[in-house]
Amino acid sequence: MGFVSIIFSIIFFTWGSKIEAKVPAIIVFGDSSVDSGNNNAIKTLLKSNFMPYGRDFYGGQPTGRFSNGRVPPDFISEAFGLKPTIPAYLDPAFTIADFATGVCFASAGTGFDNATSDVLNVIPLWREVELYKEYQAKLRGYVGNEKANEVIKEALYLVSLGTNDFLENYYTIPRRRLQFSVQQYEDFLLQLAGKFIREIYSLGVRKISISGLPPMGCLPLERATNVMSNFECVEKFNLVALEFNAKLEGFVWALNRQLPGLTMLFSNPYAIFYQIITKPYLYGFEVAGKACCGTGTFEMSYLCSQENSLTCSDATKYVFWDAFHPTEKTNQIIVNDLLQTLLPMFR
Ligand SMILES: *[C@@H]1O[C@H](CO)[C@@H](O)[C@H](O)[C@H]1NC(C)=O
Repeated sequence: MGFVSIIFSIIFFTWGSKIEAKVPAIIVFGDSSVDSGNNNAIKTLLKSNFMPYGRDFYGGQPTGRFSNGRVPPDFISEAFGLKPTIPAYLDPAFTIADFATGVCFASAGTGFDNATSDVLNVIPLWREVELYKEYQAKLRGYVGNEKANEVIKEALYLVSLGTNDFLENYYTIPRRRLQFSVQQYEDFLLQLAGKFIREIYSLGVRKISISGLPPMGCLPLERATNVMSNFECVEKFNLVALEFNAKLEGFVWALNRQLPGLTMLFSNPYAIFYQIITKPYLYGFEVAGKACCGTGTFEMSYLCSQENSLTCSDATKYVFWDAFHPTEKTNQIIVNDLLQTLLPMFR
């Protein structure tokens, strides 16, 4: 295929998809990068449904999102012309009427690996899928079988997890380290990711955006441990993220070829996130090395509380909200970057 015909295919594909493709719902699987409050309903120490979390959210309300405001799926939903926030499936304030156009099954602290969700007793990925099956049944009851099949097939599924498998599990708890080299662990996670994607595909899922890992060595919690290197980003963790992302990209290509009708996009936040962290002034940020909450070095979940008088007053100056999670403004900038490929592909 020549250069011209490749260009032609791209143009044709973009044009074609704009006309027919539609996204009736955004459905979310993953961890705290995308959780909108499922952990509120379970017994875990990893929560954020109290102030100052959510202080810049609608009504200044904490929701269980790990940020001062919205998280990426909220912005993506809005960009696709759907509602501006995605409700958590386990939040009793919402019903199937709300979930029909967007629902989140994510759980902060989870990973591809069951051993990761065990660390903080959160919802394992297999259980997110069980909840999704329950949702499908409710959706069929609510809109009827035919319409439900269409929603299931045409919805855009956002999948974002993996950071906890490395930082909360592999590098913190010895079990997996004794079992696997880090490269072997990456491959193990990809096997689990493959099992997950094939399972949701078998349930009718066809449009997926799967996220790569962020520069996880630059999370304030990790930087705070880098005493010998003047609290710079932990190079080792960033290299693992880059290595895993490269493998994940190949995995996405392979599955697109293997599973007929599947359109899976590898949404990689690494480059834009790294640029924000290393050149924060380009985006109007003043602080990238520490988070807004508390000392900005270790506080998250219950340690990031309203009583902490050190918390910054203007989160728009900070790349990170707590020691592990970006501010709403960072989430928005990252999403704007990802939308450049997401929108043409799926809208
Ligand atoms: C994770 O746990 C579930 C439920 O016990 C099990 O079905 C699944 O096989 C486990 N996955 C792995 C990779 O161990």
